[in-house]
Amino acid sequence: MKPDIYTQVGSIRLERPTMLASGILGISLDVFARLYQAGAGALVTKSLSKEPWEGYVNPTVIGVEAGYLNAVGLSNPGAPYFAKMISSNKTIPIIVSLVGSVEEDFTFMIKQFEDAKILGYELNLSCPHVEKVGLEVGDDPELVKKIVKSVKSKSKVPVIAKVGLGSSDYLDTVQAACEAGIDAITAINTLRAMAIDVETARPILSNKIGGLSGPAIKPIAVRCVYEISSKFNIPIIGCGGISDWKDAIEFIFAGSSAVQIGSVIGEKWIGVFSEINDGISKYMEKKRFSKISEMVGIAKRF
Ligand SMILES: Cc1cc2nc3c(=O)[nH]c(=O)nc-3n(C[C@H](O)[C@H](O)[C@H](O)COP(=O)(O)O)c2cc1C
Repeated sequence: MKPDIYTQVGSIRLERPTMLASGILGISLDVFARLYQAGAGALVTKSLSKEPWEGYVNPTVIGVEAGYLNAVGLSNPGAPYFAKMISSNKTIPIIVSLVGSVEEDFTFMIKQFEDAKILGYELNLSCPHVEKVGLEVGDDPELVKKIVKSVKSKSKVPVIAKVGLGSSDYLDTVQAACEAGIDAITAINTLRAMAIDVETARPILSNKIGGLSGPAIKPIAVRCVYEISSKFNIPIIGCGGISDWKDAIEFIFAGSSAVQIGSVIGEKWIGVFSEINDGISKYMEKKRFSKISEMVGIAKRF
């Protein structure tokens, strides 16, 4: 019998374990529908703020060795606009990514999505290149606790915290989120990095510093998933440099119940979802696993 590749991230059930990572094509309902048909188990939106944000001027995304460097500046149309745009959604499993500085930002945004059909929220506590949000929030466990508690008390759907590597210990952020009742953790976001043009001596990105994604960060992301899963009893979504089914399996063995796919979409386009899903299914058949949950975290046995 062909293995079933559904997975359970806490109370969230996904028909397939591959999700679209935030910020990668996550801006319209039509695109979400296409990606869902292409095999994505869930779609995480671009991180949304209370008001529209313009983001930085170009260049904002460049290719580097084994990945990409981006400082888009979280440009987005704002939560109220986005909530209206997805109001006709009935069937697509959308996870809304939110970014803000204080509890009130999140409370305001959640109110916008009260009537929307969404699967959950992902709180971006880890964007590495915009001031006063993202990592600056994630680096402050007390603030994380406050925000998560407040969001959890108002949200009707599960809430996920997306963590990354900032200037404090990211495991303290995970602990704060867990203590405040978070439903799952996504790990990790991009890592602070930069590139300089040797002809002009200028930093290439307009913001100078950006976030590194792609294969270069995969071993770091695997390590983080493994550490979180070793220390906490919380469902994890792995993210960072996943390019094929083997990478996805590696994250599952480290402790992820699902994985997010980002930068590789720039190379393999949206066929990558079914390619990875098929690869996972064939691997499970060959190794006689009947459910994803049988594989989650088994690297911790050794
Ligand atoms: C162009 C670009 C924009 C991104 N925007 C967001 C965002 O809005 N919110 C967020 O949480 N992560 C954002 N990310 C990070 C990705 O969701 C993901 O965590 C990261 O790229 C690592 O995965 P990957 O190596 O598969 O790309 C962005 C990444 C890229 C490359």
